[in-house]
Amino acid sequence: MASLLIKNGRVVTADSDAVCDILVEGETIAAIGKNLPVQADETIDATGKIIVPGGIDPHVHLDMPFMGTFSSDTHETGTRAALHGGTTTAIDFVLQKQGHSLREALTEWQGRATGTAVGDYSFHMAVTDFNPSTKEEIKDMVAEGITSFKTFMAYKGALMIDDAQMVGLMQEVRRHGGLVTAHATNGDMIDTLIAQHRAAGKLTPRYHYLSQPEVTEAEASGRFADIANYTGVNSYIVHLTCEGALNQVRRATERNQRVFVETCIQYLLLDASLYGDDFEGAKWVMSPPLREPKDQQTLWAGINQGLVQVVGTDHCPFMWEQKRMGADDFSKIPNGHPAIEHRMELLFSEGVNKGRISLQKFVEVSSTNSAKIFGMFPRKGTISIGADADLVLIDPEKKHTISAETHHMNVDYSGYEGWELTGKIETVLLRGQVAVDAGETKVGRGYGQFIKRGPVNY
Ligand code: URP
Ligand code: ZN
Ligand code: ZN
Ligand code: ZN
Repeated sequence: MASLLIKNGRVVTADSDAVCDILVEGETIAAIGKNLPVQADETIDATGKIIVPGGIDPHVHLDMPFMGTFSSDTHETGTRAALHGGTTTAIDFVLQKQGHSLREALTEWQGRATGTAVGDYSFHMAVTDFNPSTKEEIKDMVAEGITSFKTFMAYKGALMIDDAQMVGLMQEVRRHGGLVTAHATNGDMIDTLIAQHRAAGKLTPRYHYLSQPEVTEAEASGRFADIANYTGVNSYIVHLTCEGALNQVRRATERNQRVFVETCIQYLLLDASLYGDDFEGAKWVMSPPLREPKDQQTLWAGINQGLVQVVGTDHCPFMWEQKRMGADDFSKIPNGHPAIEHRMELLFSEGVNKGRISLQKFVEVSSTNSAKIFGMFPRKGTISIGADADLVLIDPEKKHTISAETHHMNVDYSGYEGWELTGKIETVLLRGQVAVDAGETKVGRGYGQFIKRGPVNY
């Protein structure tokens, strides 16, 4: 079995921080300690580097059919880009087609990801049509390691389920020890506002934002938490963006309910002033939309208060040509933006280096908490003996600039063009293999494995 010794790095996990050595044997970590007295096949000198667990992005949409097109990163290009940014595991969404089975959707997604992914991946199952036959499939999915079930409270006619289906799904998922997650926005209200704006000839990307005001998210978040509380299921709100929605979660904690919360890097760093009067704002047409500076402050505080456990991306890239499908009507712009590659460097530079969160919080929200909530801990999400050797070596001082010219995502623009960051991910290991080093990819198509998941372990 090949061995690799990583010497003298500052090894940081969610609950430890020490300069030491890590011995990797095969795919896993064999020893951790100061000045380990071993000879390995290979040695990496990590002096001056910070070493954190491989990042986990629990919210990505790769090669996904959506709004008349497909998101532009495949499982190959998307997971490769993820590795360049220190994300070694991504959880992608399988979408059930309304009127069809979960199994059919899973088979379709397996067909796209198996043998093509470069980084490790897992699947959430999005239940878009809960009925007596879907109900029977829940236990089968759990048995295959797909323990989280996504719901959409918006996108009526395509993905949305109603409250009756929500109750039934939660009851069934609870029976099998799984987790229900939600895109928690009020779909009927949003559709009404979209129709009103279109009827009034208000068609620029800015009206995408104005069609999804804070109340649409706060209302649905509260409703989701209430139904989850009634059914007793483990619950998680994806891409939470705003103060009103987080206050609903705060309210739930007052009855000692636990609702996990994910925000995404863009909601911490970008705001709605990017939606101007021209089409440029289409770069950030996503749902929910970017919010206000006061919401960014609420989200950073929410992380430090422990109300927000996870920072993901909702990576759902579209080429500019695809965005142009909505050149004359914001409601036809494919929703989503590219971020899988820069989540960790953005969070490190703007969060840790700017003093908004600690280094250990960074590890928690970029990796450990996702591993625990989604049933992969301690195989993933930490640096400990026996864990997968998924390791990220960061040069904390190195400056670099984000650009579509140099990124690895299959998309021809960046939402962060020209941003200068401090802190560069230099080397990434995935299951013991150097996957990325000094900007070069070292593992190939098909190296990524499907990760079977268990119950919540948080
Ligand atoms: O705009 C977004 N978020 N696109 C992807 C689908 C979703 O709602 O997560
Ligand atoms: Zn079918
Ligand atoms: Zn969503
Ligand atoms: Zn999403």
